[in-house]
Amino acid sequence: MKKTVDVVQSMKQNRQKIAMLTAYDYPTARILNDADIDIILVGDSLGMVVLGYEDTRSVTMADMLHHTRIVARANTVCLLVADLPHRAYETPEQAAKNARALCEAGADTVKFEGNKPEIVKAIADEGIPVMGHVGLLPQTSEKFRVHGRKRSEALLIADDAKALEAAGCFAIVLESIPEKLGKKITLSLRIPTIGIGAGAGCDGQVLVLHDILGLFDRFTPAFAKQYANMRKEIHRAVTHYKLEVQQGTFPDGEHSYR
Ligand code: KIV
Repeated sequence: MKKTVDVVQSMKQNRQKIAMLTAYDYPTARILNDADIDIILVGDSLGMVVLGYEDTRSVTMADMLHHTRIVARANTVCLLVADLPHRAYETPEQAAKNARALCEAGADTVKFEGNKPEIVKAIADEGIPVMGHVGLLPQTSEKFRVHGRKRSEALLIADDAKALEAAGCFAIVLESIPEKLGKKITLSLRIPTIGIGAGAGCDGQVLVLHDILGLFDRFTPAFAKQYANMRKEIHRAVTHYKLEVQQGTFPDGEHSYR
């Protein structure tokens, strides 16, 4: 059965941890679907790990719509969240229009970065559930660093999370903040928190798929645990193929039509 926002919210009440991962293409989205991951995020991290951009700022609505459609084709069980990319929610009207487009492409909900209650309201008024995102905000941050180490900054992040809950977000991503702050915010909210570099006290965790599979080696944040080294594995396979072609041992009888 397909997971809904209600299912994800009830996981917080039942103290069940929420597992969220990014996906951008059909084969990996199918794997996440078959693994019964709770939430798939078509994140704008797409720009860095798939499209080869320096950061997420160059990702367009056209990119997000294209990849959301692909992932939606593979997904039958996970809640599907799509990111509103940089400059796609500069006014409430623009945010509502772009959120509608992402849902027409197959997303169940959308996520955006920062404390912007008017954006949450505009999207929620369309009947679209909204996920917030506070702490490190990759679309606007000068550099990737831990946020909220200073008390004043920690208070601001906690206030941002509270404001997003009050505005109607159904869940919030907490990115790159100290573990203690992640836990404090989690305990202060009714809605689930999904941490990425925010410690074990969050209601759930999210990581970028290419980081956990070892497919992206340009930049690896300290919190990104690598569960496999697919880059090495793929490199081994393609060099083995090349060698067999050069040696004439591929194709053999088993891989030729008779
Ligand atoms: O785009 C993305 O992958 C994200 C995660 C870092 C939460 O927003």
